[in-house]
Amino acid sequence: MKLLVLGALLLVAAEGHAARSQWRRSKRELAAPLHTGGIRDPLGSYCQRRGGCCPGRDDLCTVPYLDTICYCDLFCNRTVSDCCPDFWGHCLGVEPPFIGSCERNGNKFLSGQTYKDNCNLCTCGTTGRWECEQNACLMDSNMIQAVNRGNYGWRAANYTQLYGMTLDEGIRYRLGTQRPSKTTMNMNEIQMNMDPEGDVLPASFNSADKWPGKIHEPLDQGNCAASWAFSTAAVASDRISIQSMGHMTPQLSPQNLISCDTRNQGGCAGGRVDGAWWYLRRRGVVTEDCYPYTPPQHTAADVARCMMQSRSVGRGKRQATQRCPNAHHYQHNDIYQSTPPYRLSANEKEIMKEIMDNGPVQAIMEVHEDFFVYKSGIYKHTDVSFTKPPHYRKHGTHSVRITGWGEQWDSNGAPRKYWVAANSWGKNWGEDGYFRIARGDNECEIETFVIGVWGRVTMEDMHDHHQHQQQRRRHV
Ligand SMILES: *[C@@H]1O[C@H](CO)[C@@H](O)[C@H](O)[C@H]1NC(C)=O
Ligand SMILES: *[C@@H]1O[C@H](CO)[C@@H](O)[C@H](O)[C@H]1NC(C)=O
Repeated sequence: MKLLVLGALLLVAAEGHAARSQWRRSKRELAAPLHTGGIRDPLGSYCQRRGGCCPGRDDLCTVPYLDTICYCDLFCNRTVSDCCPDFWGHCLGVEPPFIGSCERNGNKFLSGQTYKDNCNLCTCGTTGRWECEQNACLMDSNMIQAVNRGNYGWRAANYTQLYGMTLDEGIRYRLGTQRPSKTTMNMNEIQMNMDPEGDVLPASFNSADKWPGKIHEPLDQGNCAASWAFSTAAVASDRISIQSMGHMTPQLSPQNLISCDTRNQGGCAGGRVDGAWWYLRRRGVVTEDCYPYTPPQHTAADVARCMMQSRSVGRGKRQATQRCPNAHHYQHNDIYQSTPPYRLSANEKEIMKEIMDNGPVQAIMEVHEDFFVYKSGIYKHTDVSFTKPPHYRKHGTHSVRITGWGEQWDSNGAPRKYWVAANSWGKNWGEDGYFRIARGDNECEIETFVIGVWGRVTMEDMHDHHQHQQQRRRHV
């Protein structure tokens, strides 16, 4: 930078004509080509008005053009052209080499104009042809059709809220769980003493049937890669509700985690579930009503503005020291906490028993390109993108809440076992915000890292929160 300024000063200071023309020439070389946006005024008179054209190179052979200048010397006729629009007609007596204009649906567009085809920007080029980006799109109609034509056991759909995004953006903004660290992965699995005789697991199980009113609806993380916070808050909400036998049914606030659990966490750029559980245990979070989710969060400062703090009130319990961020509408800033999480083995039966005994669990999974278009059925990653270039096949790590299981017979009469899991992509995605996925084969690694947890619920809590609930009911 300094060198450039110094150079400019020297040139300005120099009196000689040679130095000046050199300065001009280098400026001319650096100038953006005038006609990359197409010849904007093909009928205007510039070189003609100037009174003629100049042979060879003449950097002073110019005319004002829009907010800059254009040239009428022969040197202007290069690949990178800065000729005046009437240079070809007036100086050479030929047609201009291009008048970039493209057709689309019977309409004419000038070069430089654009339209969006799903996730790809198409620009009218100077040659009169549309030039489109070649990104893989999140909602790829070929992929949707291929899934629905094939016999994969699930159906695909086009989602308006995901349409227009690239696959890369989907992976970057809609997931958001980092793979657990090696130490976390090595976390001891709890030993479950399953009695093969006594523990009869039903063919299907649905948490919401066993614990009505205590299983929370799926939320929508939007374009915020914070499934780490959503799945943790969701599992903790269900577990606290179940354990308190419905005395408290808090929908815990993902935003509280996103904004306040910032140590080694990336907010809307991804985070770790072990960090989230640490925070729920040691600091605790308030409810969604108290600290509502407020996307979009564009800047890191937006994300990290923590608006809830708590202090210890002894025996590990904590109390909020701030009003609800949503205090105009909601006053109950009770802090909810968990005990340390525990890891289950990857054994299907043990995961089932845990869900049936204690409630929904958290699972980490790999999300592949075809998962975004899932609409219904039993999901299994398909091969429909296998023949496409590599940028059509991407995956990222996500976390979800498994709430039950079942089995179904396919068209060949073979049983197909599945998990039922809640995603965090809103209720209009999948089966009312849920999806079913093949069970027992570690499909998308969903059985690799499964977490259970206890809420921190005391008799005293039950009494206090019960009061709030009744008050709330009276308000409604
Ligand atoms: C000017 O450019 C056009 C198009 O590139 C080319 O056909 C023509 O021969 C050039 N004329 C001169 C005098 O260089
Ligand atoms: C998908 O949805 C978008 C937006 O709702 C729509 O513009 C597009 O045409 C749809 N694509 C297909 C293949 O149905």
